[in-house]
Amino acid sequence: MASSRTHQIGLLLGAEEDWPRAFEALVRRLGVISDSSGARHSFTTERLTIEPFNLRDKPHDDLVIDRLAHWYYHPREWLKKVALMDDVYLLNSPFTFQSMEKHSAYCALMRLGMNVPDTVLVPYKNPVDNVRWAYTSSKYNQPFDLDAIANGIGYPMFMKPFDGGAWRGVSMIKNQADLHRAYDDSGEMLMHLQAAVDGYEVFARALTIGPESMIMKFRPDLPMHDRYAVAYDFLTPQVGAEAVTIAQTVNAFFRWEFNSCEMLVKDGVVYPIDYANACPDVAVTSLHYYFPWAMKALLKWSTFCLATGRKARTQVDPDPWFAVADQEALGYRDKLAGYQKLADQHFDKARYEEFCAQAFPHLDEMVLEWVQSPEFDTLLVDTVRSTYPPHELDRFLGHFRGLVGLWVKDESARLAA
Ligand SMILES: Nc1ncnc2c1ncn2[C@@H]1O[C@H](COP(=O)(O)OP(=O)(O)O)[C@@H](O)[C@H]1O
Ligand SMILES: [Mg+2]
Repeated sequence: MASSRTHQIGLLLGAEEDWPRAFEALVRRLGVISDSSGARHSFTTERLTIEPFNLRDKPHDDLVIDRLAHWYYHPREWLKKVALMDDVYLLNSPFTFQSMEKHSAYCALMRLGMNVPDTVLVPYKNPVDNVRWAYTSSKYNQPFDLDAIANGIGYPMFMKPFDGGAWRGVSMIKNQADLHRAYDDSGEMLMHLQAAVDGYEVFARALTIGPESMIMKFRPDLPMHDRYAVAYDFLTPQVGAEAVTIAQTVNAFFRWEFNSCEMLVKDGVVYPIDYANACPDVAVTSLHYYFPWAMKALLKWSTFCLATGRKARTQVDPDPWFAVADQEALGYRDKLAGYQKLADQHFDKARYEEFCAQAFPHLDEMVLEWVQSPEFDTLLVDTVRSTYPPHELDRFLGHFRGLVGLWVKDESARLAA
């Protein structure tokens, strides 16, 4: 007789309520699925709570979607425990996200030959809070000329923390006065100086979940509800494919599963500038039109990992990537093709597609129906209520209902075709 298993997905959450509710609703609607061997799988979700744990306790969860460990260390240490002791699959793993932050991602992509803008790491402005600092710095810290470094990079540039996120401590530096002000203000933060991609044509933001990427047109200067433009064909096919490869390369390289990647496109060149986001934005009030796609990708990838028993790996293995990168005879496009192949292998793309075709023959219809349901509208209303002041409710509800309605129209046409 074919086997039957129930898999539990743990959600480790912070302040978010919108996408977890959406995800929980979709898991409930999914019901039982069958893989190609005929084995049946069902899925449940649980919201994890924070409490003392014995390191030998057995977890209830088979996979955890983590949105907390990047700042809250108690659950982070629980994640490490369940990864090491209990083979729990993590989206994302603290082992690769803590040790490899923005700075490491810059280094890796530079070695892979990507067009990362010129970047310099300068020492801390303020003394490090450690009794050994005074002696160590007086003996080993070299004096340096900040202006000379800046002149080498060229104005304008950006100063930003080496492990950045959420625009914390980011400033645009237009001149010497900005430079010194920003460095003086950086205090205990460790800062990069990075050449600005000045006058870029497109800001492309990729959200990647497992082997699926959505490249969106991003407008960082607009308020959050307007930052993602609904835009089709805003990149040439070649640049679009390059953006996908860059986003998937960084994830496959670092074994990140749920991440966003920001790229600036100027004169046909793609410059990756920020791609280590342990907790990428998936709020319905920012993604709107793209929200159903994100929920579907999260559902497909997490259930694929569980149903096929995908093994989590806690360590990075750069060798196959550098084997491509270090071949001098290969041009940039050839290397991109090599990286895409490695990324597809890492995410087991062929098997994933086969699994999705077999297990979810009606997933698109199910999600379309859910987005049109009163349940989804209630979720939207609740989210808008908790996000905006009362006098703006109508305006924002209209805004998001309109954008979601546009997705429903486009998706209905796609499925009818
Ligand atoms: N090299 C750059 N060229 C142009 N704009 C940049 C550059 N670096 C950062 N920015 C701008 O600053 C914003 C924040 O920088 P980013 O590296 O994304 O930091 P964070 O990790 O805090 O999101 C970016 O979204 C972009 O608008
Ligand atoms: Mg960013």
